[in-house]
Amino acid sequence: MDVKTEKYRELLMQAEGLVLGETDTIACMANVAALVHEAFGFWWTGFYRVVVGQADGTPGDELLLGPFQGPVACVHIGYGRGVCGTAWKERRTVVVPDVEQFPGHIACSALSRSEIVVPVFSGGEVVAVLDIDSRELNTFDGTDALWLEKIVALLA
Ligand code: SME
Repeated sequence: MDVKTEKYRELLMQAEGLVLGETDTIACMANVAALVHEAFGFWWTGFYRVVVGQADGTPGDELLLGPFQGPVACVHIGYGRGVCGTAWKERRTVVVPDVEQFPGHIACSALSRSEIVVPVFSGGEVVAVLDIDSRELNTFDGTDALWLEKIVALLA
């Protein structure tokens, strides 16, 4: 078993310990973001939650910044916008080896070079996305997608 897979196996067990028995999703997202971020030393690791309408009166659904680790980030992301909005719209994990090659990528940080966004499903709906940014190109692959999907499934 390769090093990355071994690390993810351990992370999944740790995430289970942190999340199972807890009922507040935001608290669970906060710990999962910290767990994954610390384990791999990513540049930015965090959640955007799907919210309906906004306090400022803006109509429509959008992604709203949730618990994260790393530098400050964009607060609002529209449906189908950027990598996060695309993962939401297409209901699938999106792996971006080079953010400059992804049309519409939203650059919250100029230092971000590659990215993965994993949708969080609950009751068949996307309720949030997990977004991870790396300062290196080509950081993420199918192994990350597979294990991060298992980890976020704990939040359903
Ligand atoms: N790059 C993301 C925006 C969120 S930040 O990376 C934290 C996107 O294109 O959706």
